[in-house]
Amino acid sequence: MFISFEGIDGVGKSTQADLLEAHLVGLSREVVRTLEPGGSELGRDIRKLLLHRGHVDARAEALLYAADRAHHVATVIRPALAEGKVVITDRYLDSSVAYQGAGRILGATEVRDLSMWAIQGLLPALTVLLDLDAASAVARRAKTGDAPDRLEREKVEFFEAVRACYLELAAAEPDRFLVVDARLSVDEIQAQIRARVDELLGR
Ligand code: TMP
Repeated sequence: MFISFEGIDGVGKSTQADLLEAHLVGLSREVVRTLEPGGSELGRDIRKLLLHRGHVDARAEALLYAADRAHHVATVIRPALAEGKVVITDRYLDSSVAYQGAGRILGATEVRDLSMWAIQGLLPALTVLLDLDAASAVARRAKTGDAPDRLEREKVEFFEAVRACYLELAAAEPDRFLVVDARLSVDEIQAQIRARVDELLGR
């Protein structure tokens, strides 16, 4: 089973992915926990280029995320799924559609087509979208005290556009997406996610 977590920066994806991993391990499932960009060795170099260097042209940015994804799918995700493992990734193609498509105004369809080419059609069985307004997400990020990366330095309007795009994507594919209100407590959010995952596992 292949599961992705999505949402704007600061909504709590990693915390929820960690808890879901623990739940699945408790059910004796082998879990591969990964992320984009940077889920492979090549990807870790691409991540540095994308997040910790200077300006990246919008089209070059879309291509670098797609390159990271192509390599990640081919060398990490597909092999793990073939071995019967559950793969949980922090971000996948919807991040590109929302951030590069809506945030950068490249066009959601073009960016999606690029990613679909990169992943050769491998879509998650479930995509958990943690939904939160951009101002609250920015405030949560500020509390962590971590230095913002290149994307995180974008304005609140950028994240509002990204959030709106995510919600449109979820509305268009209700079978794949589970939208959870990220204002709920960590436990309440996890309970909704586990309910859906358990249903998919036929429990
Ligand atoms: P994160 O790993 O801390 O979430 O950081 C990754 C950043 O990259 C985050 O700001 C979202 C952004 N991103 C894109 O813009 N497009 C993509 O396709 C992906 C995977 C991430």
